[in-house]
Amino acid sequence: MRLVAAVDGPAGSGKSSVCRKTALDLGMQYIDSGAIYRAITLYFLEKYGDSCSEHDPAGELGGVHILQYFMPDGSVTTMLNGRDVSSDIRDERISRSIGFFSDNRGVREYVNGLLRKWAGENSIIIDGRDIGTVVFPDAAVKVYLDASVDERASRRVKEYKGQGKNVDENSIRNQIIQRDFNDSNREFGALKRADDAVFLDTSSMSFSEVVEKLKQIIDSQVIHKK
Ligand code: DC
Repeated sequence: MRLVAAVDGPAGSGKSSVCRKTALDLGMQYIDSGAIYRAITLYFLEKYGDSCSEHDPAGELGGVHILQYFMPDGSVTTMLNGRDVSSDIRDERISRSIGFFSDNRGVREYVNGLLRKWAGENSIIIDGRDIGTVVFPDAAVKVYLDASVDERASRRVKEYKGQGKNVDENSIRNQIIQRDFNDSNREFGALKRADDAVFLDTSSMSFSEVVEKLKQIIDSQVIHKK
């Protein structure tokens, strides 16, 4: 039986790592929708440099071919026009320019089409901002993951430190506030909790507690549907 689990939430809420671990444990596929927006941004940044926002991306998406693989070790490989861009799309330059592309209606329709095609017949977990509201409004499982701004900032700082990068917590905190504002206020596909989504505030939960909770929510749907 095919099951779609839509997991939405703001930047730094831990969606990606929680979803990857849950998908591995349950033998499901995982799709990182944010990585697709990142790969599109990279394509236009490489094509037009800093003037990329002077071009309408919607008419040029024919030149963008994206593939994504959920690897057996729980990582995700994103390919752009035959090249592995998994690490390039995490660059700070992408985060600075992505808003222009993720706000664009044509880009969003393109990404939504890809997500629906990739979902195919597989049981999948997809994370993003508008998965349970726009992309899969009929998803059997909908979860909205959240955490306080302070908690999300401190998680991001830890993540950077783990990669050997030294960052200022205050500036990370401000970036999170700015991204929350942008994500919640875009005209199409804004970040919003679906009425029927299970709300999980993970501020005081450990990583494994969140994974266990998500697994329980998914399992209860599978049993319910049998
Ligand atoms: O999840 P992430 O931080 O990698 O997402 C990158 C950007 O893409 C983020 O600024 C919001 C946007 N995004 C979106 O608009 N809709 C989605 N479904 C997923 C991400």
